[in-house]
Amino acid sequence: MSGEARQSIAGFTSTGSKRPDALFGGDHPDLPHAMTRSSGCRVWDAEGREYLDLIMALGAVALGYGDPAVNEAAGRAIADGVVGPLPPTLEADVGEDLRRLVPGVERVRFLKTGAEAMAAAVRLARSATNREAVLGCGYHGWLDWCQRTDLGVPAGTRALYAELPFNDPEAARERIRRAGDTLAAVVFEPVVLGPPSLEWLAVLREETTRAGAVLVADEIKTIGRLALGGGCERFGVRPDLVVMGKAIANGFPLAAVGGRTDVMDGVTRTWISSTLATEFVSLAASRATLAELERRRVPAHIGRVGARLLDGFRALVERHPRHLRGVAGLPEMCCFLYHDEAAGARLAVEAARRGLLFKRGAYNFVSLAHGESDVDRALDVLDQALGAMG
Ligand SMILES: Cc1ncc(COP(=O)(O)O)c(C=O)c1O
Repeated sequence: MSGEARQSIAGFTSTGSKRPDALFGGDHPDLPHAMTRSSGCRVWDAEGREYLDLIMALGAVALGYGDPAVNEAAGRAIADGVVGPLPPTLEADVGEDLRRLVPGVERVRFLKTGAEAMAAAVRLARSATNREAVLGCGYHGWLDWCQRTDLGVPAGTRALYAELPFNDPEAARERIRRAGDTLAAVVFEPVVLGPPSLEWLAVLREETTRAGAVLVADEIKTIGRLALGGGCERFGVRPDLVVMGKAIANGFPLAAVGGRTDVMDGVTRTWISSTLATEFVSLAASRATLAELERRRVPAHIGRVGARLLDGFRALVERHPRHLRGVAGLPEMCCFLYHDEAAGARLAVEAARRGLLFKRGAYNFVSLAHGESDVDRALDVLDQALGAMG
């Protein structure tokens, strides 16, 4: 499909990471531009061509596309009317599930997107502390409070946010102490191209407690993947708030912020609310997803199959040192490092031409739907693609 066929959409698509530029480093007419269908770990493009997928909707799908149990629950919710004037009983049911599955979650609120749930967490932290400054580590979505860009973001908002380097205990201690009694929150992703050191996590916990600031774990892509309770469960740190998204509803639009009762009860003093935060379909999908993640021990499967993928990535680095510099991430979410950006783009192009959708500049994700043979096939395609790069 040509770019011209998509002139109704400003900037090609509403999800920035799905632009041809983001996927392939540019526009190539023979590559997949838009899709019509997904199932398990496979997708079909507008021309009807089938692809094996390692992108998995940017980590939003841990069970595989179109999981039957999730679809059935969503179908029942559609039959039940989708939405109404009162809070659905399902809201509290999913809240109970998250309380049981995610350590430290005493109360929860639902929203639609990860960025919204992160903004809610920051609002709650600011409400609880009566302070404004925020230190962050990782990607937290597109909303104003955490942007580095100056285009369209007020200078006063930008001035309230600064970055913490990942896994640097000394810098964390120094910056948290420097912010002192202006600091409302430290927000962090538990994995940024690698696992966190226990020392860094301990410094975040100790120093935020000492400063009287709220520690917020952004588990949007790690919840249900690194463990049912996410990276904090896996690495043994207890934040004050946990922000969840993506895998909790297997691709249906649902995100949540949860945590300590005293901080969460700030929702009664500030205003966090959205008309469709309580529609039934995503809540029903989430209920079914959480049950499946637990029943089918999905994080263990993803860890096992992901380890095969990451080992294969390492072997490819040894076989193709001219193009690949190394690997990053964990089995559950991993990528290559390249000598230059052009090599990553070329690899994504050559892989797509051979039937594999592969993320060049961010994480690749396996799911419950990926078996060992899918991983082996992906590795084989990548090997051929790298070979074709000369
Ligand atoms: C760690 C993290 N936080 C926040 C977000 C933003 O979530 P959304 O795109 O659903 O707004 C993402 C999305 O990739 C993410 O990975």
